[in-house]
Amino acid sequence: MKKILITGITGQDGYYLSKLLLDKGYEVHGTVRRSSSINTERIDGFLSEYKSSGQFNLHYSDLLDSSSLNNLISTLEPEKIFNLAAQSHVAVSFKIPEFTIKVGTIGTLNILEAIKNINKDIKFYQASSSEMYGGKFEEKLNEDSRFDPKSPYAAAKVFSHDITKVYRESYGMFCSSGILFNHESPYRGETFVTRKISRAVGRIHMGLQSKLTLGNLNAKRDWGFAGDYVDGMYKILDYSEPDDWVIATGSAHSVENFAKKAFNLIDKNYEDYVETSERYIRPNEVNYLLGDPSKANKLLDWKSSTSFDDLIKLMVESDIQIATKEKMLLDNGLIKPTWENPVVN
Ligand code: NAP
Ligand code: GDD
Repeated sequence: MKKILITGITGQDGYYLSKLLLDKGYEVHGTVRRSSSINTERIDGFLSEYKSSGQFNLHYSDLLDSSSLNNLISTLEPEKIFNLAAQSHVAVSFKIPEFTIKVGTIGTLNILEAIKNINKDIKFYQASSSEMYGGKFEEKLNEDSRFDPKSPYAAAKVFSHDITKVYRESYGMFCSSGILFNHESPYRGETFVTRKISRAVGRIHMGLQSKLTLGNLNAKRDWGFAGDYVDGMYKILDYSEPDDWVIATGSAHSVENFAKKAFNLIDKNYEDYVETSERYIRPNEVNYLLGDPSKANKLLDWKSSTSFDDLIKLMVESDIQIATKEKMLLDNGLIKPTWENPVVN
């Protein structure tokens, strides 16, 4: 069975990419960090489903621990490595810049060096980001557009994007970057804006929350579905040549529009519930991100297949189910009430 290594397997994309690869018959290995509480919630289902077959395996590591990465890569010699690990929250990157930058730069370099020294045939995928563009102008962004990072997170991603290209060109390694625009799902972390909204809509619907506090409602993003985007990641490493690829839907919407549509699904007017606070405004805002995925459409035969409205519906319906369970547990005294808005960022 062909082996794949995924860093950041416990995250949103780690879940969807694992699912795709397991369905294709790969032996999936992922790195997890030690934490004081269990952080494998998204992938626990795979752990039990593939326990006897050994098709799904987790290993302790950290992108900043080159010894564990070297040991793992030399022991497994995977066919491909998907580097999804990052401190991926842009607002948080202003609070913990040193950690964000170390993981987002040295972390990537550690893997590239390990591949170079252990087996140059291992294919490498870097999770680059549309944040690298900075979003100052209302333009469609492609693989040739200029980077203008606006946060420690984005600056680190630019470094990793560039160093991936350096290793590709210097050592003939198969190193590709997917410049992914925002992608969301019911598995999205609760402090990213779409999930923060869908979670609040679910809780408001069940009478568990009364207000939703957001930051910049005018910011626009090109939001797609994570399940579609991991297919793009797979196709990027399956293509004949290593390269850089934009993965996006080609449409941008405002945060306000996302909130409006999400509240409409529970027959409520978002203006009655949404308030704004300076607390959620970033030191440097990225106002507008819109991707041009023409190259991936044409050469990878990849396209985003979930509409904006369907994505919102998927997320809201899932969060109504979660809030329904939460209410049942609360009503039976099995959990304690959380504070009104459970989300911090
Ligand atoms: P996510 O849900 O935040 O997952 C991030 C993953 O990285 C988690 O598994 C996390 O582990 C792990 N991680 C963090 N620091 C680490 C370290 N020092 N060593 C090893 N692992 C570490 O992010 P995502 O949405 O799945 O995104 C996946 C990747 O794509 C990230 O690199 C992100 O920056 C990039 N990206 C995402 C988007 C998007 O819209 N989702 C768009 C463009 C690019 P813990 O669970 O232990 O924290
Ligand atoms: N998180 C958050 N919380 N964002 C808010 C809020 C809020 O209460 N209110 C408004 N926003 C705005 C942010 O200012 C930003 O302009 C937009 O909503 C999207 O914010 P996030 O969902 O946090 O995502 P992001 O665009 O900053 O970053 C995500 O996408 C990048 C790709 O462009 C992350 O997944 C990054 O890891 C990824 O690289």
